[in-house]
Amino acid sequence: MLLTREEMTFDFGGAKLDPVRDRELLEWMFNQFLYGEVTGIQVGHWLYDAPDLEAAKFLARQSLEEMQHVDNFLRIMTMLGCQPKPAHPAVRFLSTGMMGGSWAEHVALEMAQGEGFVLQAFYAVIDTLDHKPTVDILRRAVKQEERHVEFGEEQTKKAIEGKPWLRRRLLGLSLVSMWGVRKLAGYMEKKLPADHVVLRHLPAFLAHANHCAEIRLRRIGVLDRPLTEISGAKRAALVAEAYGGKLVGGLGSLVALPFRMLPWFKRRRVTDTYLADPHVTGYQLPAPDSATAQPQE
Ligand SMILES: [Fe+2]
Ligand SMILES: [Fe+2]
Repeated sequence: MLLTREEMTFDFGGAKLDPVRDRELLEWMFNQFLYGEVTGIQVGHWLYDAPDLEAAKFLARQSLEEMQHVDNFLRIMTMLGCQPKPAHPAVRFLSTGMMGGSWAEHVALEMAQGEGFVLQAFYAVIDTLDHKPTVDILRRAVKQEERHVEFGEEQTKKAIEGKPWLRRRLLGLSLVSMWGVRKLAGYMEKKLPADHVVLRHLPAFLAHANHCAEIRLRRIGVLDRPLTEISGAKRAALVAEAYGGKLVGGLGSLVALPFRMLPWFKRRRVTDTYLADPHVTGYQLPAPDSATAQPQE
């Protein structure tokens, strides 16, 4: 990975999340993660679009890992007494509604940036949650997420080689996702209890996540100078250019949109149905032996 664990680590000053006192918060958080892992079904779409065999093999393996992560969160939630519930609409939109429109967008936005952001959240839970069985599961899962981020970084590097227009476009789209994180930080600052030992650090944690996203963009080569050296007008132009390109590319799907919105045309995927799926509703903790023997690497 282009960023180390140390660089991505946020210092919560030793503050801890308590599995009993903070159950409601943990339930909310793990439900967002659970949904994120279910969106792993999208890997199938990109497997069909893979540029070479090596990438195809990577994605085939990733799809298995993401489905395994679904079980990880079901297991964690069962251990902590948390119920599977719908994810926040913003999270649903960010992970499903904003699905990349091309291979380059997928590897840059969803894998390097998006999974990089989730990885940072996993590190934060590992560092703060006072529940060893959960932390042990997450420690194994982050090794796989690190590989997904690394693949995204390498593939983005390859994709932008000799294509300055693509570099600008990915930068414009990244600026939008960083803006989204800043919005989220502002929302949290207003809504969350400022006296909670861990939550009071969240706005600073999200700012740190954006800082790491900027460093990652620079090391990949999408960004060639610090963001502070790019004027507001230039940033707006980059965003407009990126979305202009997206609009042209998306005209075909725009024509089909009215049909897809009709209920009998809307295909329900696992991301729409998982909460009612027998695998989720009937989930049972594995026997103690298999709990430690689960292959993760
Ligand atoms: Fe995952
Ligand atoms: Fe992943």
